[in-house]
Amino acid sequence: MGYEARFGGFLDFSTVLQRMRPDLQRVEDRLLAETALEFPLVGDILRALIVSGGKRLRPLLLLLAAKPFRYDLERLVPAAAGIELLHTASLIHDDSIDGASRRRGQPTLNAIFDSSIVIMVGDYMFARSAMLAASTMNPRVLAVFARCLGSICDGQLRELFASRRTDISLDDYQRRIYGKTASLFAGSAEIGAILAEAPEDQIEALRAFGSAMGMAFQIVDDVLDFRGSEDELGKPAGQDLRQGTVTLPTMLFLADGKATREEREFVEEVIRYGPADDAALTTAVRLIRESGALEEALAVAKSYVEEAKELLAELPPTEGRTMLAALADHALGRRI
Ligand code: IPE
Ligand code: IPE
Ligand code: MG
Ligand code: MG
Repeated sequence: MGYEARFGGFLDFSTVLQRMRPDLQRVEDRLLAETALEFPLVGDILRALIVSGGKRLRPLLLLLAAKPFRYDLERLVPAAAGIELLHTASLIHDDSIDGASRRRGQPTLNAIFDSSIVIMVGDYMFARSAMLAASTMNPRVLAVFARCLGSICDGQLRELFASRRTDISLDDYQRRIYGKTASLFAGSAEIGAILAEAPEDQIEALRAFGSAMGMAFQIVDDVLDFRGSEDELGKPAGQDLRQGTVTLPTMLFLADGKATREEREFVEEVIRYGPADDAALTTAVRLIRESGALEEALAVAKSYVEEAKELLAELPPTEGRTMLAALADHALGRRI
């Protein structure tokens, strides 16, 4: 039986956002205060990156994880801003690694400055995020925070070492997306629960909830890379394949008799050697899109969302719990 049938209560995501808006605004104000850098242009670009429409899902998760317990915004806001800044710093480095030219519809720092500046600005943001986490004066929060940063590096390194390889196992992929994405969702939920003094077993359930929803979130991101257009996503489509990053849709395409041998070999060549031209990339994207692999990948994401919502059974039946269920559904239904 599904979550709604068992526990009752349903909220759609826009209602959740509406109810949480004043609290998220406090996180927003805190974030902006952290972008004041005195170097020419850098502060402006950074502010543009921060104000230009990040979805703020990790701060929202942190706040919602605290909701059923001792919900004290004074304690939660710096931690939520710290988590979002950690995410932002990781995007600055990610875009630099990926050679991405746009993020959230804006030019990336690496499109404007050379890598020595981009690396330092990224590090600066990591430092500021750690200072926010430290301001909670809670060593356990700081430990979770440090573990997240380590996991993100682990995931990104796994992705780099898997680059241009066509023999990726499901286990490799799961470890990679846990590290680069799900670990921060897990940590956000855990930190919210710790700061709200939730009982130990419920802290654990919320951490697992964040992890499962984060896995779904990254799988959906990997699907959107095949589906989206630059206008919708604020970044161009087909980039994973161009870079030789094999994600779940490509794995499913290569694995089961979804394609002819020629089609499979064509996609494998694109992964190994890069597309000969833009038309080759478009063809590879189309083959994967038309194979049914995207729908299959989304079914895997859906099962993670179901797993996440099952874990909510451990929590007291509160509005916060219903909001968490809506957030998990949103991870699956999102279009950007
Ligand atoms: C982008 O994260 C990086 C991934 C983990 C896929 P988001 O999609 O949450 O990015 P913003 O913060 O909303 O721009
Ligand atoms: C997200 O990875 C980066 C981090 C989690 C640090 P991707 O490279 O897949 O995300 P996008 O596609 O650039 O947003
Ligand atoms: Mg990347
Ligand atoms: Mg990237």
